[in-house]
Amino acid sequence: MNIKKIAVLTSGGDSPGMNTALRAVVRTCAYNKIECMGISRGFQGLINNEIKVLNTRSVRGIINRGGTMLYSARSKDFLTKEGRIKAYKNIKKHNIDALIIIGGDGSFTGGMIFQNEFNFPVIGIPGTIDNDLFGTSHTLGYDTALNTVMEAIDKIRDTAISHDRLFFVEVMGRDAGHIALNSGIAIGAQEILIPEENIGMEELIISLKKSKEAGKTSSIVVVAEGDKTGKNVFELAKRVEDKFPDYEIKVSVLGHMQRGGSPTCFDRVLATRMGVKAVESLLAGEYSKMVGVQHGEITLTPLDLAIKGKSKINSELLRVSEIMNT
Ligand code: F6P
Repeated sequence: MNIKKIAVLTSGGDSPGMNTALRAVVRTCAYNKIECMGISRGFQGLINNEIKVLNTRSVRGIINRGGTMLYSARSKDFLTKEGRIKAYKNIKKHNIDALIIIGGDGSFTGGMIFQNEFNFPVIGIPGTIDNDLFGTSHTLGYDTALNTVMEAIDKIRDTAISHDRLFFVEVMGRDAGHIALNSGIAIGAQEILIPEENIGMEELIISLKKSKEAGKTSSIVVVAEGDKTGKNVFELAKRVEDKFPDYEIKVSVLGHMQRGGSPTCFDRVLATRMGVKAVESLLAGEYSKMVGVQHGEITLTPLDLAIKGKSKINSELLRVSEIMNT
């Protein structure tokens, strides 16, 4: 297929690096003398025809900006065939030949259905802080989120020490524990609770008891939002408090600050490489694939595999965190 015009959208939870990738897509289109169009607010914007021409001037000054200049949204309409038909009509109206989706697994699922229904070329760039996609060691925004979380918990540690307190800190990641595990190791957490490894309440109590008996007067437990040890982080903290009446326990939910901020150097370079690869893959006739990075190389993984596959927790990291826990 002779691709002359590519559209790009950002979808799902935004992440630092989306703007950087968008900039790379637009500039690589210009380099290859093909047109680029930006779709605002993800698939909902495609249905509502929120589509505009993007050129190198449009993406000036965004390389270091968190968030997405194309906005993002989750679209219920796109879950319906009628919605996707409307979207496809707008694709044809603008003579768009291919679509680049910067988003997470939910966005790629929508893209894959669209590709299959209309035999329309789609490429995915993994833009999510969760790092929960198969076929890439890093999703865009993951490194930035890790540094945001590390800096935030370093601050919590200062006050925990000053007041002899035990803090439960909840971090994002939806159903994946990558942010919790890596940030937990980086800040020296007493325990790290992730959905992939349910250590259970007893184990947690034993660990906290051990640290207190060793003379520690303050501790941090990092809890992934998908962890199931307790009903939620507040209920978990309450149950621990019942076991340690003399330990002042606090909860801190970091929340959406993990999704913002200027992308790190790592994320900016990765986003630029992925943006270039996405455009060049479409021009080379590679469709329905996700761009990824594996052992430092930029690769392509079939979209269905990227979605269905699971991003495994690194067992060596688990062992390291265990050793640090003594
Ligand atoms: O997928 C990214 C993410 O930040 C998850 O870590 C989190 O569970 C979810 O999005 C929050 O979604 P929303 O921004 O719609 O509340």
